[in-house]
Amino acid sequence: MRFVKRRIMSPGPVEIPPETLAVAAQPGPHHRTKEFRTALKDALASLRFVTGTRHPMVPLAASGTGGMEACVTSLFSPGEEVLVTVCGNFSQRWAEIAEAYGLVVHRLEVEWGKPVDLKELAAKLRRHDHYAGVFTVLSETSTGIENDIQGIGKLVGPTPSLLVVDGISGIGALPFKMDEWEVDAVVVGSQKGLMVPPGVAAVGLSPKARERLGQAKNPVFYLSLARAFKAVEADELPDTPWTPPVSLLLQLRASLAALEAEGLEAVWARHARLGGATRAAVRALGLKLLATKGFSNVVTAVDCEGGPDAGKVVKALRDDWGISIIGGQGKLKGKIFRIGHVGHVDDLDVIACIGALEMVLKKLGWPVTPGAGVAAAEAAILAARG
Ligand SMILES: Cc1ncc(COP(=O)(O)O)c(C=O)c1O
Repeated sequence: MRFVKRRIMSPGPVEIPPETLAVAAQPGPHHRTKEFRTALKDALASLRFVTGTRHPMVPLAASGTGGMEACVTSLFSPGEEVLVTVCGNFSQRWAEIAEAYGLVVHRLEVEWGKPVDLKELAAKLRRHDHYAGVFTVLSETSTGIENDIQGIGKLVGPTPSLLVVDGISGIGALPFKMDEWEVDAVVVGSQKGLMVPPGVAAVGLSPKARERLGQAKNPVFYLSLARAFKAVEADELPDTPWTPPVSLLLQLRASLAALEAEGLEAVWARHARLGGATRAAVRALGLKLLATKGFSNVVTAVDCEGGPDAGKVVKALRDDWGISIIGGQGKLKGKIFRIGHVGHVDDLDVIACIGALEMVLKKLGWPVTPGAGVAAAEAAILAARG
């Protein structure tokens, strides 16, 4: 068997640190033991730390979408009116889930590639002040933007609405302060900034959101947040209502301990540096960024209108250089490619990716000055490292 050197530059699932992968190779304890529940306690404490909350969080055996669905079903009832800020494929998913469960969905449509405009949101909230919930996303992975959750929290916090945030690709990589920013419900996913394979979601709720648990009239069983919180809080050591993904939760504890050891501010600064370097390189190569402001430091979306064929770039990077980036989703399918710089990535991963991108562009006949992207990325990295 041939071993292939791979580099994962996708915005999730991300590369897993070898130390975390090694945890999965150990026989884990049974989940009803003190040993496992102590490990779960540590993992949940670290999760609260990266999410910026003093309040309990619960793990779910689900991908991120399962955590989103759990928020909709456990906190809302059919017929309730909610507002969804739709700025890409994932924020649109909130609307789809809410509609599937009979909520009346109002949309604040935002041009894909732009963040939510706070003035427009404020106007929408002034016109209609009884939304049961406002749903948004921290890092819209499909377009490469970051929303101003702090600003959104200032607008929604004083209203009776719950502010529900998809933090799936952002948390662990971008600043997020759930309590300080008045976020009522947040969803986290394992396979992005938290550097764990896919399969675990986690949800945090504010006291305001906790009051809704048990009142919501949607059908829910496996993903019941009421059951999950009860199990986490029933005893001194947390528990789960069903068999948890033991191995993934042990890996979560390992990766989160590594993030804590690096320091949260340092982790955010690393992502900011990698995002900045990638954007500088893309511009230096004469390519166009999809976003013009509110750039997410999780992923960079490159607009291929009038540029290289997005699908060919993705394929050639993978086939010729072993580098996984991804194309567009939804209405951006075929129109963009996206370079992830989230999780277990460093400066040299970005340099390698940009170097390979230059060679791919040249092969595809796109006019590039060899080294221009790498030089711009290096300059940005050196400036940020000081
Ligand atoms: C912002 C965001 N929300 C939701 C999801 C969906 O998560 P999952 O695919 O784990 O269900 C993703 C996954 O890419 C995401 O990036």
